[in-house]
Amino acid sequence: MGEINIELMQKDSPIGIFDSGVGGLTVVREIMRQIPNEKIIYFGDTARVPYGSKSQETVTRYSEQIVRFLRQFNVKTIVVACNTASAYALDTLEEASDIPIIGVVKPGARVAADVTRNGRIGVIATEATIGSRMYSKYIQSISSNVTIYGKACPLFVPLVEEGLLEDPVTDEIARRYLAELIDIDIDTLILGCTHYPLIRSTVGRIMGDRVTLVNPAYETALELKQLLAGRNMLNDAPPKLGSEQYRFFVSDKAEKFVRFANSIIKYGILSAKAVNIEEY
Ligand code: DGL
Repeated sequence: MGEINIELMQKDSPIGIFDSGVGGLTVVREIMRQIPNEKIIYFGDTARVPYGSKSQETVTRYSEQIVRFLRQFNVKTIVVACNTASAYALDTLEEASDIPIIGVVKPGARVAADVTRNGRIGVIATEATIGSRMYSKYIQSISSNVTIYGKACPLFVPLVEEGLLEDPVTDEIARRYLAELIDIDIDTLILGCTHYPLIRSTVGRIMGDRVTLVNPAYETALELKQLLAGRNMLNDAPPKLGSEQYRFFVSDKAEKFVRFANSIIKYGILSAKAVNIEEY
């Protein structure tokens, strides 16, 4: 991870955050809660979502373009809010970067390794994240005495984007996906996709009280806070009145993004701007 270039970066420089679309707003929401003075530049790749069914090469190329886009804003750090991009592209992005870049997979893995008591951890995520085995690799690098069970749940993303958060259809699909994880007696389940914290109550009800749900979004915000504090780069004061604290960019359908965003972030996202990300 590169050192922050203090010449350019100020404490009040923004944090860049990106995702394949709207899901990364669950990470933004946690960052807003935990470090409310920070400025945020968010990019959602709404033209090219989903990443979860694409190849590592494609997701890495998309992620590199987005990092180039975010760097224009003199961001002091970048958060890869997308689990799929974190699993597939984080190592490549970090190697090429002179500012810190953090993903959501490592923080989620660390907490899961910490909270499990019986050493049986489940991960639900996109096909790409499960196929990458990144959660397993990180967890096993921390604790070798654990077994990780991955389950891809590809229908959860469209269900959440359709707004079916508390719905019999979502309930039925969740029961089918989660049945095998219940059978193998996991005690910890990682919500390894940006959208899943939005159906946390459904997943929690099906898994039961004995299973601890880990939300990597929460842990990532905490890690970001610690990273910035450790480098004395937390923004000390709220941004000046009239300055735009939160700015949102997408690659398509800005209005649809704003509608969804306002349903999950209660700060009132007034607008989002569409950009041609292929130019970066
Ligand atoms: N943001 C993605 C993730 O967390 C889910 C949506 C997608 O497949 O692009 O893996």
